[in-house]
Amino acid sequence: MKHLNYGKIVLIGAGHVGSAILDSILRMNLADEIVVINRNEKKAQGVVLDASHTTAFAYSSNTNIRVGGFEECEDAQIIINTAGPSIQPGNSRDRMVLLQTNVEVMRETMKKIVSYTRDAILINVSNPMDILTYIAQHEFRYPMNKIFGTGTLLDTARFNKMLADICKVDAKNVTGFVMGEHGGTCFIPWNCVNIVGIPFSEFQSQFELEEPIDKEKLLHEVKVSGLDIVELKGYTSSGIALSVCRLVGAIMRNEKAVVPVSTVLDGEYGLAEVAMSMPCVISRNGIDRVLQLPLDEEGKKGLEHCYEYLHGIIGQIQ
Ligand code: 2OP
Repeated sequence: MKHLNYGKIVLIGAGHVGSAILDSILRMNLADEIVVINRNEKKAQGVVLDASHTTAFAYSSNTNIRVGGFEECEDAQIIINTAGPSIQPGNSRDRMVLLQTNVEVMRETMKKIVSYTRDAILINVSNPMDILTYIAQHEFRYPMNKIFGTGTLLDTARFNKMLADICKVDAKNVTGFVMGEHGGTCFIPWNCVNIVGIPFSEFQSQFELEEPIDKEKLLHEVKVSGLDIVELKGYTSSGIALSVCRLVGAIMRNEKAVVPVSTVLDGEYGLAEVAMSMPCVISRNGIDRVLQLPLDEEGKKGLEHCYEYLHGIIGQIQ
C-alpha cells in the first residue's frame, strides 16, 4: 500500500452539507489537513476562506485547509463525498427523486477518485444514500471495508433523541439502532432497544409514561424528520455534519466504535448485492466487522422489506 497522509481529509462538495461538515471537523479538531473539491471552484474558495478565519479562535483548530483537485485523493486518509444535488423543499419528499442525477454524479466522482486511490476510507453522504454507496463500491471495485455511507446513523441520532425526550433522559443513554435504508423502508429492531439495559418493553413502567410508546408513530417521525427539516429550513446540515464527525473521529482515533453505517452486504442475514445500514465496528481500517443484531420476527420482516425495495431499485439502474 502506498504512503497515506494520516490526518488528511478530502471533502468533495462545498454546499450546505459540505460547509457544515468542514466547520464541524475544524471545531472538533479531527484533521491535520482538509482539501475541499467543488465543481464551482470560486464557491469552494469562499467556503474555505470563511472557515479559515475560525482558526483564529480558541474553539477551532489550526488545520491546514485549502481548495484542491482530485489528485489530492492520492494520499488522503479519508474522502468524504457530498457531491450532487440534495432534496429541495416541495420535492416529492423522497430521496429517490435524486436517483438518476446522482447515480451519474457518483459515477463521474468515482472515476476520478479511483484514478488516484483505493486506499482512502471513503464516506458517502450523498442521496439516495444506499444506492449510491452500492454503485460506488460495486461498479468501481472499491474495497468493501473501506467504503460506507452515513446511512441510518443520522436516523439513529434522531430516534435516540425522540425516545430520550419521551423518557426524559439524555439521548446518549439510549441504545437503539435504526437499520436498513436511509429512507422510507428503514426499520427499528425494537427488541434491541434499551436505556442502560432497561428493555423497551419496560419503558412505560420504568419511566412512568402515561401511555405505551406508539412504535409505528415514532418510526414514522424518524422517517419524515429529515424531510420536514428540508421543508422548514430548505436543507439539513447540523445532524449530518456531526454524523460525519462521529465517523471521522472513529477512523482517526482507531476507536472501534459501533456505529450504524450503510455497507454493501456480503452474506449478512443471507443477503448480498445491496447496501444498507447495519451496526458496524469502525476503526482506522474502515469497517472491521458488520454486527448482526438478533432480529425478532418483526425485525426480520423489516429487513426483508427493505432489502426487496433497495434490490428492486438497483435492478432498474442503467
Ligand atoms: C437527511 O435526512 C436529507 O437525507 C437528508 O437529513
